[in-house]
Amino acid sequence: MDRPLPLPTELDQALNAATRAPSPHNTQPWSFGVDGDRVAVWLDRERVLTVADPEARQARLSCGAALFNLRLALRSNGREAAVRLVPDPARPDFLAEVHVEGHRRSTLEERKLAQSIFHRHTNRRPFLERAVPPGVRSALNAAALAEGGRLEHLEPSGRYDAVAALARRAEFLQASDEAFRAESARWTRRPQGSADGVPLSSAAPPAGEAGALPQRASHTNPALPPRSFEQQPLLVAVLSGGQGALADLHGGMVMQAVLLTATSLGLSTSFLSQPFETPETRDGIDALFHDAGQVHTLLRVGYGYPSPLTARRPVAEVRFPMAGLT
Ligand SMILES: Cc1cc2nc3c(=O)[nH]c(=O)nc-3n(C[C@H](O)[C@H](O)[C@H](O)COP(=O)(O)O)c2cc1C
Repeated sequence: MDRPLPLPTELDQALNAATRAPSPHNTQPWSFGVDGDRVAVWLDRERVLTVADPEARQARLSCGAALFNLRLALRSNGREAAVRLVPDPARPDFLAEVHVEGHRRSTLEERKLAQSIFHRHTNRRPFLERAVPPGVRSALNAAALAEGGRLEHLEPSGRYDAVAALARRAEFLQASDEAFRAESARWTRRPQGSADGVPLSSAAPPAGEAGALPQRASHTNPALPPRSFEQQPLLVAVLSGGQGALADLHGGMVMQAVLLTATSLGLSTSFLSQPFETPETRDGIDALFHDAGQVHTLLRVGYGYPSPLTARRPVAEVRFPMAGLT
């Protein structure tokens, strides 16, 4: 008689949840070293976008999001999980360590948020012309604050127009940059079910008329009929204090707390990253937010119809045995 396959452990489930994190072009730039009840989160250098993200900031944000999912999945499964961010200049790609500890009672909020891990996705399609109410905005702020970060809702009277102009400038610069276009082309317009990269089915339709924000050419499917996008979508900036690798990792945790909370409240989200990816516009963003802290990412938030989920590499591909974790 065939033996039944072993059930996935809590750690296997948590690693699966970790891999559902977002990452630029779905590069999934992470790996996990496992030693018993300890997990080391590593940045996978081979998967960093060397043209768009030469300092690996966005890749570390993604690892922070994966770390957030890992901890949340363990906690919602009734396990205590202690996270230590690892500032180790000798091993800059060793980012964090998670220690799975005793048992605990999970809260309803944790379980609800953990469910959102498997529903959250990047929605590049048009959203409805429906405002995000103040109470929902406050809940997003609270999610960022609870994780030690901050959210700024950009207003037309504030930084909105300057951010939109920097995004348009970056999209223009990237369109004429051969290396940039080649890198994007390698990771996008993939067939459905591709284990990494962005499938064509997740691309946006072309915008019928220009809105406030530019479309990302690599994430648009010109074969689709054009559609109208919201004229002035809600744009939020994810901020935290500090700079450097640990601040990026922490920023990723804040970002994921906001994204999952948005999902749990029925919101759709997408990213506006072009301005972070060319030196000129990156400097412009830093100057614009100089009084606000470190700006990690910009999110478009609103109400939309769900779009398809993208696939991930199996956990077996990103997990490796690692002896000697302390
Ligand atoms: C730091 C970061 C930056 C991103 N920037 C963009 C972007 O500028 N445009 C975009 O369409 N998607 C962007 N994404 C979304 C990824 O393409 C997406 O997470 C990935 O394809 C996986 O798909 P999913 O989010 O639907 O799971 C970004 C994701 C991260 C984490």
